[in-house]
Amino acid sequence: MVNVLILGANGQLARNTTRVFLRDTDAKLTLYLRRASRLRNPDPGRVRIVEGDVLERAALEAAMKGQDVVYANLAGAMKAQAEFIVSAMRASNVRRLIFISSMGIYGEVPGERYQSVLDPYRDSAAVIEASDLDYTLLRPGWFTHDREVRYELTQKGEPFKGHDVSLDSLSDLIVKLATTQGMESRKSLGVSRG
Ligand SMILES: NC(=O)c1ccc[n+]([C@@H]2O[C@H](COP(=O)([O-])OP(=O)(O)OC[C@H]3O[C@@H](n4cnc5c(N)ncnc54)[C@H](OP(=O)(O)O)[C@@H]3O)[C@@H](O)[C@H]2O)c1
Repeated sequence: MVNVLILGANGQLARNTTRVFLRDTDAKLTLYLRRASRLRNPDPGRVRIVEGDVLERAALEAAMKGQDVVYANLAGAMKAQAEFIVSAMRASNVRRLIFISSMGIYGEVPGERYQSVLDPYRDSAAVIEASDLDYTLLRPGWFTHDREVRYELTQKGEPFKGHDVSLDSLSDLIVKLATTQGMESRKSLGVSRG
């Protein structure tokens, strides 16, 4: 049984992945989000809801206690968020991080030039890659809402394949990464339908 801290738990992908964790595993979840009243507890026996901002050091460190895995599903000031997460994980001796980024951060999408809107994604990825954590960065394509679970992974340095990927595919991958020790450790993976 694994304890998973989900940061940015009200995000679209985080909510979908919470559902898949509860359906497919016996993981215990801590849902960390701003304005926690927005979220209903789907399973009080296994889920704890914590109100907090990732940029609040004390609240973040408190939420890390006893966790095995941190799954960060964030947006916005991502470089600072990554710095706070790495530092809080070190302080709490939590090593496993799954961090959602975006396709395109290395200019790896064929036919597309790097866009500055991706700067926070690229900068936060650099912070995590420079850490000594057991991280997996995911660089998904555009999210779709169909129920198909089918995805291909590309490694850093390889051209990205395809353009989109279903939320259910990403959730399937995130749950496997969180519950399989050593899987894709210290990797940055492109994820798409291929
Ligand atoms: N949609 C796509 O097709 C696509 C494709 C590739 C990559 N992505 C990226 O993948 C990531 C996850 O996607 P998503 O759709 O789940 O995103 P989302 O719905 O925008 O969720 C991001 C979450 O981050 C939270 N957040 C931002 N700053 C925070 C902070 N300082 N402390 C705590 N929480 C904070 C937001 O909380 P609040 O609700 O409180 O604002 C929000 O719930 C995003 O970065 C997105 O850009 C998306």
